[in-house]
Amino acid sequence: MDASLWVPDDPSVPRLETAASDCRGCELWQLATQVVFSAGPVRAALMVVGEQPGDHEDLEGEPFVGPAGRLLDEALTQAGTSREEVYLTNAVKHFRFEERGKRRIHRKPDVRHISACHPWLEAELDAVTPDVVVALGATAGRAVLGRPVRIGAERGLLQEAGSRQVVVTTHPSAVIRLRGRDGYDAGLAALVADLRVAVAALS
Ligand code: URA
Ligand code: SF4
Repeated sequence: MDASLWVPDDPSVPRLETAASDCRGCELWQLATQVVFSAGPVRAALMVVGEQPGDHEDLEGEPFVGPAGRLLDEALTQAGTSREEVYLTNAVKHFRFEERGKRRIHRKPDVRHISACHPWLEAELDAVTPDVVVALGATAGRAVLGRPVRIGAERGLLQEAGSRQVVVTTHPSAVIRLRGRDGYDAGLAALVADLRVAVAALS
């Protein structure tokens, strides 16, 4: 099963967003608070794809509004663009987590979740028609490129994937994990450098 049953024909982003709240394409809707679809202009030169909503996003219904989002905003600004100019979405639209006491601990989506949710991403790509797609981390890379991706080997390269230009880079959460450690400044600088590759490729 996948999301295709719920994706409307002739989709625009607002129609997709409305329809996604009914999606039962995998089991992740059951525990999540709500679907988290996308943010930003419905036509954008740059599209940024994350992994899945986190705890904050699940509660607010908006992508990238928690700590990873703040870091992403900063990196986008340093790369010469801004959150307002970019279409932001995720490979998987419902939060996957494990309950530990009162805490909800993020769990990576499985490949089957990426596949189940892919019809939404494909419909968004068709509607938004970005010049360049940035995939944040291996899950997003897999969703966008349709194959396993190794961030260390591929990051920062402008790739042609069918009619699309794609840049994969690290997920901002991976940079956040370096906070207070030696690698943080370099980690942020590397994310910014990869985003600059994408910005430079905009036509
Ligand atoms: N991390 C993601 O990948 N996406 C979000 O929307 C928030 C955090
Ligand atoms: Fe549908 Fe994606 Fe949510 Fe699964 S994660 S229910 S496929 S929107």
